Amino acid sequence: MSEGAAKKEEKPRKFQAVRGTRDLLPPETALWNRVEQTAHEIFSTFGFGEIRLPVFEPTELFARAVGGETDIVNKEMYAFDLHGSFFLEYRRQEIPRYPEELTPAEYEQAIREFLEGIDFALQSERLEKTGENLAVIEETRQAFQALQKSIQSLDLQQKNDGSSWSVEQLNSAEKIKDLAEKIKLGSYAALRPEATASVCRAYIEHGMQQLPQPVKLYYMGPMFRRERPQKGRYRQFYQIGAEVLGGSDAPAIDAEVIEMVMTFFDRLELQGVQLDMNSIGDRNCRPKYVELLRAELLKVKDKLGADSQRRIETNPLRVLDSKLESEQGIIATLPRIADHLCEECAAHYAAVKHQLEMRGVIYRENWRLVRGLDYYMRTTFEITAQGLGSQNAVCGGGRYDGLVELLGGPPTKGIGFAIGEDRLILSLLESGKGAVTTGRDVYIAWMGERAHATAIRAAKDLRKAGFSVELPPVEQKFGKALGQADKLGAKYALILGDNEVSEGLWTLKTLADGSQAKFTEPDLLEHLRRQKALSS
Ligand code: HAM
Repeated sequence: MSEGAAKKEEKPRKFQAVRGTRDLLPPETALWNRVEQTAHEIFSTFGFGEIRLPVFEPTELFARAVGGETDIVNKEMYAFDLHGSFFLEYRRQEIPRYPEELTPAEYEQAIREFLEGIDFALQSERLEKTGENLAVIEETRQAFQALQKSIQSLDLQQKNDGSSWSVEQLNSAEKIKDLAEKIKLGSYAALRPEATASVCRAYIEHGMQQLPQPVKLYYMGPMFRRERPQKGRYRQFYQIGAEVLGGSDAPAIDAEVIEMVMTFFDRLELQGVQLDMNSIGDRNCRPKYVELLRAELLKVKDKLGADSQRRIETNPLRVLDSKLESEQGIIATLPRIADHLCEECAAHYAAVKHQLEMRGVIYRENWRLVRGLDYYMRTTFEITAQGLGSQNAVCGGGRYDGLVELLGGPPTKGIGFAIGEDRLILSLLESGKGAVTTGRDVYIAWMGERAHATAIRAAKDLRKAGFSVELPPVEQKFGKALGQADKLGAKYALILGDNEVSEGLWTLKTLADGSQAKFTEPDLLEHLRRQKALSS
């Protein structure tokens, strides 16, 4: 086949968004903007300021905060090697633990290549140049030089014979392997699966405990979890969240945070909103409850499914989360945390509920509400909405006193929530509350050179006055232009031909009813302004 023919045969690859990710397109993005704008407005009336966070952070941050044993960290994180020094790990693994597995010459080569890789990584800044790391690299290098000398003294046959290692050589080779293991090669980062950990990290990093407390922050943006995609569940999804850090753990703070989300949902006219509340106790009372629950679960272990059986050991609370039909009867008979809260937690929970009532926030108590992240204590809540099928939680949150401390900061109170923006939008659309006005205000149908110049000026003035304007780049017959205006959903067509330009009277056609009227330029602007004010 000739080169030309081969090229013709080669079909260009069609790319698609990676599974679990998607494009958000107009007109839906106008709704996303409305939702986000409303969040900015409502949250700022509650005194919250926006924080913008990186989308990736050290993996360890999430492991510590969210919990190493949670699904989010254990199975769903997108982690990667931050410095691109993965190749060094590979070379390090090429050095065997038992040197006699290789001939002296092969062993020498494996270490040489590893150390050459180290040199390259140091030069190209792919390795952390901490004092500790540099010292252990130097020690490895010196130990290698000594071994190399001793290997060079062997004859060719001995060098290539695995049985010619001397005891000293084996000892020093093993020591080199031990040293090489101590070199810190990579540092790993992960795409954030959530943002509470990042907000706490930022609170500590910027010494925000020095600011007037509590510090009230909100954020919005993409999060990443490798979950099985389905309706309302994506691998890149969006959250709008808020956190209150520092100050006291006054129940009024819990209630106000919840009141803020409910106000936001109310403003958006989200339908079928249901707030579920629970308290999961604290370090004092929860462990005792978990043990009691475990003991009770062990008694009925045989009647539970495989997942729940496993969770008896790993995290008995999550059994309460089970949706399995056959387990519901058993779960209903299990001890409830509300009956096992310590005095302080019980009082706190009662006060949060009272505070919600004072604010007119309607809630339902749900003793089975446990959250899939480790940092929670006391108040936990979840909000569901209409039209979401099985993935119906549109918001989740709770209190997490102690998390900042766990991340190396001072003892700090904390509470917050995150809204799943994708689900929020889905619910608004399904209930018919997602309408946004798109389409142009004015389509300028112009014909002729002189009219083109006037049309450009008119477009400029109308846009300056805040109207959205479509100005066709080439001349069109009026009939075609009006058809185009209709397709774009324009409210008006401004007709500019030679007559209009020379008379200084412009024709405005209202597309909904086909009526037409003539205006001078200033009158036209005034008329459009008045109409806009009337319709909004
Ligand atoms: P979360 O319950 O893991 O909590 O997530 C909050 C919300 O994010 C969920 O209710 C859901 O609407 C949405 N969401 C989670 N995963 C997905 C997904 N794969 N696709 C679409 N939407 C999803 C947190 O993330 C905590 N950081 C909340 C928080 C803030 N707690 C205290 N402060």
